[in-house]
Formats: sequence, structure tokens, C-alpha cells
Amino acid sequence: MQPIRGTKDILPDEIALWQYIYRTVHEILTIAQYSEIRTPVLEMTQLFERSIGNGTDIVNKEMYSFVDQGQRNITLRPEGTASIARAIISNKLYTTNNINRLWYLGPMFRYERPQKGRQRQFHQLGIECIGISSSMADIEVIRLATQILQKLKYDKYTLAINCIGNLEERSIYQQQLTEYLNKYKNDLDIDSQKRLITNPLRILDSKSSKTQQILQDGPKLKSYLQTKSIQHFNTICEHLIHLKIPYTINDQLVRGLDYYNYTAFEIYDNNHFNAICGGGRYDTLIQQLGGPNIAAVGWAIGLERLISIIQQNIKIIQPKLDIYIAIPEHLNNPKIWNIVHILEEYKIHFEIDLTFNNIKTQLKRAKNLNAKECFIIGKNEIVNNYITVKILETAEQKKIDINILPAYLQNFKSVK
Ligand code: HAM
Repeated sequence: MQPIRGTKDILPDEIALWQYIYRTVHEILTIAQYSEIRTPVLEMTQLFERSIGNGTDIVNKEMYSFVDQGQRNITLRPEGTASIARAIISNKLYTTNNINRLWYLGPMFRYERPQKGRQRQFHQLGIECIGISSSMADIEVIRLATQILQKLKYDKYTLAINCIGNLEERSIYQQQLTEYLNKYKNDLDIDSQKRLITNPLRILDSKSSKTQQILQDGPKLKSYLQTKSIQHFNTICEHLIHLKIPYTINDQLVRGLDYYNYTAFEIYDNNHFNAICGGGRYDTLIQQLGGPNIAAVGWAIGLERLISIIQQNIKIIQPKLDIYIAIPEHLNNPKIWNIVHILEEYKIHFEIDLTFNNIKTQLKRAKNLNAKECFIIGKNEIVNNYITVKILETAEQKKIDINILPAYLQNFKSVK
């Protein structure tokens, strides 16, 4: 049996890094007053159609959607922002707090062609700052992204930002762009020809050099931006300079989801050119989904992509095995659990051998596992209330009374 194409097991030797990332992110975001939220993996399909947009690749061809037993149209979430916006509305979170700073980490699902850095089930770490329209919130979230990456010892990335204006500015621009591109329709790449009808703005980030050449002389979104949009963007740039966060302005950056306005940004890995993080402002999304008019901004980092890069730099020290408990004969005496209980109280890392193999085999495993000591507990030991301790490095052997086990472990820990 193989896992489903585009999905992956995260094995025990990889999980330590995932846990380390979780702890690191938890610490940084808790200090900044972001609270963790967990939303369901399953949502109504229309949530994504109404937020990400019907003309987008995600909704058009990448969603895992099905009809459930109750004839509802359900989708495995392809991203987190729509679910967070839905959760804000369903739980009326805006009534208890004007500002909701939230973060999440969980699996997302997109039916894309699997390749390096692209899976069908992948994980996003995301933050959403909901309830602030000021550009200060954009700066806060961008700063937090770079802070997290820095803490994870990753700095070989490029932050690209763009101002994509508001709906009005964009729709005027879209009209002009479509008019211009229609003149060159047959010279555009096939995808862009389709996008001319479904989502013309996405043509801007086409990978085709011919299309890019045509775009060069076309109308620029920048020229359609009004003062408010420009000021919003300029403030972000000023603060990023002050914060010494390097960035590049990328006029072509429009993002593949429809809900953005004003700010759009991405963080790319310098070597693989993959987007590690994507985000932006989405001031109309919550209202569009039936909630109140609440501005918001956020981002999501693709964890598999990030991990594939940082795993070289971060060495996680796994806790060592302290004590191996060898039971050399069939011992059904419950007193063994009293010893286990004391080890747990002293937070000693232990493993019990439950094979009842001969003592030689058990000691061999204790050595292979690099345990410091082996506690041998046989019938004799149980009856006479002691433990035979073997120091594995020196092969020295001694007996300790179970009554003095706490004191022994205290000493064991202090010299460990
Ligand atoms: P996105 O750009 O679609 O934005 O995804 C964010 C990140 O998820 C990407 O930069 C990438 O690292 C990772 N990612 C996306 N698809 C895959 C895949 N198939 N396999 C592996 N990694 C992938 C969003 O999802 C927005 N919700 C971000 C956001 C939050 N905007 C505002 N708040």
C-alpha cells in the first residue's frame, strides 16, 4: 500500500523539527498577542468559491470537493484565510474583540501536480490580523514573518511586495489591460488566453516570456492607483526600510486568490525560487461572506517548503534514553509499575523491555539504544525489594534498595 499521490507521512524522526517550529512560532506569536485557532478541515464548497474566487486556479481545478451523505457540497480546505473569515462570522468574534489576532497551523489540500515543494496535502502556518485597516497592521504581519524565519535560521529569501489597489482601481485597470491584451490575443500563451476571460490580472504573473514582452508596453496598475492606496503602500515601504527588512517591489505580483486589496506580498527562497510565504490585505472578504465590514491582513507559510530548506541548519537534540528496564523472566508482578511511577516522577527517560528475552539480549538492546544504565528487575529483586543496576559504559553492577530509589534518581539527574 502506498500513500495517496501528493501526500506524505511525517515520520517520527522528522516530527521533532515540526514540534520545534510549533514551539518557536507559538512563543513569538504569543508575545505579539496572536492566539491560536483551529478550524475544521471540511467547509462548505461555496465558502471558497465566494472568497478565493470562481476564476482562480484553486477553485477551478484544485479543490478536493465532494457531495456528502446529506447531499451537501463539501471541500477539504485549500487554504486557511477563508475558514478564519467564516469563523469570525459564525462565532461573532468581532463582538468580543474589535481586533482579533489569530494564527493557525494545519493541513491544506490542493489537487495540483505533485513535484518538489508541491504536494496535494501540505501544511500552512498562517497569521491573520483582523480589525485594523491601518498599514501598521501590514507592517506588523510582515515583520512577524521575517522574525519567525530569522528565528528558524533562514535568511536566504526575498520579500516581494506590491500594491494592487482597491476593487474600483483594479476593475478600471482590468478593463484597460483586457482591451490592450485583446489586441495581442493570439500571441499570448494558452493559459493567458484563457485568463483573458476568467481572470485577466493573473496574466501579469505569467511565466511566458512572450506574454511578459507584450505586457511590458501595456498599462501598469500603478498608474491607476489613487492617493489612499499609494500612501498605504509608501508607509509600508518606509517602515520596512526603518526595520532593515530588505524588499523588492514587484509590479507583476497579483497573487492567485481574489480577495486581496492594497497590499500583496510573497517571500521567495533565493535558491529554489519557490514561494515560501504569501499574503496580503483583504478588507472586503468578511463583509463579502455576510459579516460586518472588517479590514484584515495576513499571510501563510508553506511548512513543507520551509522545512525542506531549514532542515540542514537546525539540529534538534533528541532527549537521550536514561534507563533501560530489563525484565529477564516472565514477571507478572504489578510492583514493576511502582518503579515506573517513580521514574516518571523524576522525568527519567526510560524504556521497558517487554519481550522477556534472555538478559544478554536485553542488555545488548540497552547498549544499542545508548541508555546510561540498565535496571534489571527479576523475581529475586521484586521479592527482596531491590533493583540490580548495571552502568552500561563501565559494566559495573550494584544493588539499590527500592526505598532509596528517589534519592538515587535525584543524584542520577544531577550528574546526568
Ligand atoms: P498561498 O500563496 O496560496 O496563500 O499559499 C501560501 C503558501 O502555501 C505558499 O507560499 C506555499 O509556500 C504554500 N503552498 C501553497 N500550495 C502548496 C502546495 N501545493 N504544496 C506545498 N506548499 C504549498 C494562501 O493560501 C493565503 N491564504 C495566504 C494568506 C493568509 N493571505 C492572507 N492571509
